[in-house]
Amino acid sequence: MNRREFLGWVGVGGLASSLPIAIAACSPTKVENNPTSSSSPKADGFQSVGTVAELDKNGQLLNKQFAGSSVLVIRDPAANNQLIAVKPICTHTGCTVAWEKQQKNFVCPCHDSKFATDGKVLKGPAKDSLPVYTAKIEGDAILVKQGYILNR
Ligand code: FES
Repeated sequence: MNRREFLGWVGVGGLASSLPIAIAACSPTKVENNPTSSSSPKADGFQSVGTVAELDKNGQLLNKQFAGSSVLVIRDPAANNQLIAVKPICTHTGCTVAWEKQQKNFVCPCHDSKFATDGKVLKGPAKDSLPVYTAKIEGDAILVKQGYILNR
């Protein structure tokens, strides 16, 4: 193998090995936890969507099996013993938002819309608020009540 062939071979190998890293770096933030523990709603309308341990592990709890859609639960930054639960489907074109603890708002990875803890739009292009649910802790369970709190 001469010098030219060697450099060509190393160049292709370097590109091939760095491509997955480049793709991963450009991918939107994902919320990793997606508990499979989702119970049927109780008589009072509350449904278990995960555990306190799962919530505290990642600072947010995404359950994709809630009310025919999904729910994202966080601890209220203004009152740590209270919960905030939103339907995390961005009202722009439907990407899943994530909680950004440093910014203290929900951020859409697709076009950077931002939503306050009450679901209201802080920054577009989304125009409509995220629907908000009632949520509470019972023992080690995170419970969310089906049916939105009107916030528009
Ligand atoms: S889908 Fe969320 S900002 Fe576009």
